[in-house]
Amino acid sequence: MDKIVILDFGGQYCHLIARRIRDFGVCAEVMPSNTSAKLLLADKSVKGIILSGGARSVYEKDAPKFDREILNLHLPILGICYGHQLIAHLMGGKVVSGKSGEYGLTKLNIKNGEEILVRLGKSKNVWMNHRDIVAKLPKSFVSVASTEHSKTAAFVNKKQKIFGVQFHPEVSHTENGDQILKNFVIDICKCKKSWTSTLVAQDLIRETQKVIGNEKAIVGLSGGVDSSVATALVGKAIGKKLIAVYVDTGLMRDGETKFIERTFRKKKLNLKIVRAEKQFFRVLKGVISPEQKRKIIGKLFTDIFYKVAKKERAIFLIQGTIYSDRIESGLTKHSSKIKSHHNVGGLPKNLKMKLYEPLKDLYKDEVRKIASELGLPKEITVRQVFPGPGLAVRIIGEITPERVKIVRQAGKIVEEELRETEFWKNIWMSFAILLPIKSVGIQGDERSYKCPVVVRIVESRDVMTANFSKIPFSILEKISTRITNEVREVNRVVYDITNKPPATMEWE
Ligand code: XMP
Repeated sequence: MDKIVILDFGGQYCHLIARRIRDFGVCAEVMPSNTSAKLLLADKSVKGIILSGGARSVYEKDAPKFDREILNLHLPILGICYGHQLIAHLMGGKVVSGKSGEYGLTKLNIKNGEEILVRLGKSKNVWMNHRDIVAKLPKSFVSVASTEHSKTAAFVNKKQKIFGVQFHPEVSHTENGDQILKNFVIDICKCKKSWTSTLVAQDLIRETQKVIGNEKAIVGLSGGVDSSVATALVGKAIGKKLIAVYVDTGLMRDGETKFIERTFRKKKLNLKIVRAEKQFFRVLKGVISPEQKRKIIGKLFTDIFYKVAKKERAIFLIQGTIYSDRIESGLTKHSSKIKSHHNVGGLPKNLKMKLYEPLKDLYKDEVRKIASELGLPKEITVRQVFPGPGLAVRIIGEITPERVKIVRQAGKIVEEELRETEFWKNIWMSFAILLPIKSVGIQGDERSYKCPVVVRIVESRDVMTANFSKIPFSILEKISTRITNEVREVNRVVYDITNKPPATMEWE
């Protein structure tokens, strides 16, 4: 498969570059900024390199490391923002701090609409996020576009096929940003479009066979789309040497264990169901801190997995971790930690099994496509996302079986009321959250003093950002009426009207 490598200099949008490129059918992989030229040269599938943006200045002492030999590999190179400045700096140009930064939308005037800027016209609104500017170009480089504050907002070295743009083509606010990436990837690097879910699935199956070899593996199956895909994929790769372990934590959705049995027994899978409700409630007793909940759950999960693995003589633990889980757990070098996704940041340091995460570079919608490719039923492929720590992160405060019952019942009503509506297809997740407070109400002519439930319905394209759903009040009213009628312990329902950011989708 032809591939574009994106070297990560710490830019917030680095992963989006890969995402955009894969969207138009070409394989793209993010690698650390200090990846060696030798390594890139050895990989014959690499057809071009993109140097990402980043928060540093090229003159700073702790600027990310980079092997400058990469500039002599005779592979096309595109620098974006920091990458643009780095190329100019290393090839003999001059980068200086601009009089004022350029942040947000800026008008780009295109002087020479060839090569990287072909098919873009005379001007475009582009998204900028920088202070330093390229003040002097290296020899053999020409400026092909400018903005009010940057004379060199884009440059070209035709002979060496090295390009730079000061703005961010990967951000959706940049007009025709995709076209710039396409110009580079398809026209300049001549990449063939081969990133299809069929090929990706085949590639992952081959990779899995190589990694696992003749060993046995266990997979943590939760019934969500990610772990189901990981299970199906690894199952195809190593057959009966895979043992799928579903842990009933007592914190699962309504009817989940039966759903798992029904769906996966049919697939002739080596399925093991571990009932651990009591253990989970015991270790979570009195725990209130969200991070502590996540760590405790992660630890008990791995203890259970390890016990099964030992008995089965399996040495690998497979998880359905995807890209956004890793980013939000702060596991990539430059991302900040938002929460410890239990399957990533919640894992204990001394994990006694070898961890393998075949989906670690994919986004949710890519995983859904692979799910269909692997023949998983629609009930799974279109399933709403459910967090690894389960309902524990939807109960603010202490977790008890009684409180789990409330949030489970309320969540079921939210889903039921939305499922048959036209809004369902756009919804990423819809669920209920239980608050640790009480308020006064009036039910059946009597005073009530009970808990409120929050209804959260969000829409998202790629997990990193989300909007609350603007569904009609009539549906919200039906949800509210049903919850207060059917869930005895609740007398008030509120709707969460916060986007992500500043909030996250889950409350913990
Ligand atoms: P947040 O709350 O971070 O959630 O905006 C983004 C998406 O990730 C899901 N989520 C998790 N998934 N393990 C998972 O597998 C976890 O620990 C976890 N925490 C959150 C969340 O449900 C949402 O879809």
